[in-house]
Amino acid sequence: MNFELIDVRTEAGKVGIVTLNRPKQLNALNDQLMSELGEALKAFDADPAIGCMIITGSEKAFAAGADIGVMASYSFADVYKGDYITRNWEQIRTIRKPVIAAVSGFALGGGCELAMMCDFIIAADNARFGQPEIKLGIIPGAGGTQRLPRAVGKSKAMDMALTGRMMDATEAERSGLVSRIVALDKLMEESLGAALMVCDYGQLAVIAAKESVNRAFESGLSDGVMFERRLFHALFSTQDQKEGMDAFVNKRKAVFTHS
Ligand code: CAA
Repeated sequence: MNFELIDVRTEAGKVGIVTLNRPKQLNALNDQLMSELGEALKAFDADPAIGCMIITGSEKAFAAGADIGVMASYSFADVYKGDYITRNWEQIRTIRKPVIAAVSGFALGGGCELAMMCDFIIAADNARFGQPEIKLGIIPGAGGTQRLPRAVGKSKAMDMALTGRMMDATEAERSGLVSRIVALDKLMEESLGAALMVCDYGQLAVIAAKESVNRAFESGLSDGVMFERRLFHALFSTQDQKEGMDAFVNKRKAVFTHS
């Protein structure tokens, strides 16, 4: 596949890495970039050798938001009929294997929303998050008003959406938006380490864990726990459960076969 606005590579034959590559525009997200990203993630998801994916940007910007130059001339008819955002930005929601956002620099507007669509965020110490759409006369449009309050609570999400201020990495970690902060020069090493760890676990359990945690955002507690319980029970039918528990009992390293 030929991509223009993203770089795609694999590490250790099992981690798929997508680097957003519009450095002069601070990785502003346009339709072409988001379509390419969706295609790349879908291809990795379908590749049995790949166990986990990472999306990253440049040191200065993960992504500074949707491309404002392109959006400036859009009319209501353009975005409504063209199904702007829904048509291609949300392909990431269909990806079943884990996707980690490795964020350095600005993650603003659609960039913050893209990071939040990933399964977890590892932030470099220079990362800055924000939903500054209010300054443009709009509101977040790729899930920011929904995912941000779920991550950081109502008060902070309102503060971000209404004032357009940025959050640094320390505040983002303290608020639960990111899972860990690392030194900028260790961002890829740490993210790759996490991805490789995920790859070595049984893929059936990994996908079940992702589905089950995501269900917490879509359901009430009883339904969510029931969903979890059913997946938990189902995993006792897998070879990986036999292997994982036998390895523990016999004090050896488990070798999962993803079956
Ligand atoms: N769209 C298009 N171009 C962008 C951009 C964006 N979101 N963000 C930055 N750029 C471009 C700038 O226009 C500039 O281009 P030129 O060199 O051709 O002038 C280049 O990237 C570098 O940017 P700056 O000179 O502004 O760099 P800076 O370091 O002074 O400031 C910044 C960095 C604070 C991130 C600033 O660029 C900025 O505020 N960007 C806009 C952030 C924003 O509003 N994002 C939300 C977009 S709306 C959205 O995302 C909707 C949604 O929910 C889906």
